[in-house]
Amino acid sequence: MINSVGLQNPGIDKVISEELPKLKKCFNKPVIANISGFSIDEYTYCCERIDKEEQVGIIEVNISCPNVHNGGMAFGTDPKAAAEVTKAVKKVTTKPVYIKLSPNVTDIVSIAKACEAEGADGISLINTLMGMRIDKMRRRPVVANKMGGFSGSAIFPVALRMVYQVYEAVKIPIIGMGGVSKVEDVFEMMLAGATAVQVGAANLVDPYACKTMVEELPKVMEKYKVNNLKDIIGGAH
Ligand SMILES: Cc1cc2nc3c(=O)[nH]c(=O)nc-3n(C[C@H](O)[C@H](O)[C@H](O)COP(=O)(O)O)c2cc1C
Repeated sequence: MINSVGLQNPGIDKVISEELPKLKKCFNKPVIANISGFSIDEYTYCCERIDKEEQVGIIEVNISCPNVHNGGMAFGTDPKAAAEVTKAVKKVTTKPVYIKLSPNVTDIVSIAKACEAEGADGISLINTLMGMRIDKMRRRPVVANKMGGFSGSAIFPVALRMVYQVYEAVKIPIIGMGGVSKVEDVFEMMLAGATAVQVGAANLVDPYACKTMVEELPKVMEKYKVNNLKDIIGGAH
């Protein structure tokens, strides 16, 4: 799918006062809070506040956002900017900080290493790739914004490749995502080096996608003769 929804969210105040309490009613385990910002100040402000919420177990910092104070280039496309966000967020937080990387770069490894060097506790990858389609009747881009975030099963090989590369370069854990839509993908992502796996677009195709994958994991473990999933992390290296 190609989306151009922006960073739809009600803002940090409402996430804390409304969204987290709503979530607590149906989900009792720690949640990962995904934080975006358009400046270092916005990242630190939101991370410092969300860090105080006991429901939050991990802070995931999305650095695919444009830096409005620096020509609009995404923080995640430059190792120096990625390091700067990591350092600033680590200063104001106590919980594990995972930096979520953009795949729209030539060298994902240098960015992951820059984040690790500034104290990131883990790396999440990948965010959406830039993509587009053209409406042949109108001869115009299908998405009003011309381009959008491309995700779903088509991007799985790219995501897997990046998880594989980053696993070889850093010592911190990796959360793998990008095109995971079936339980076999979870297994493959872990073999590439992911400690945990996230699912995005597949949930929009089938709201039970995650539930199904979790339920089918034991069957796949049996198929590949695995007793403990931990044993396969990075198993392809
Ligand atoms: C509709 C939509 C909205 C998204 N919004 C965010 C977001 O706010 N922050 C973020 O870090 N990633 C966002 N993503 C990216 C996903 O979390 C994920 O990294 C990416 O889509 C690749 O995984 P997938 O192929 O399983 O969707 C969004 C993806 C989709 C499809």
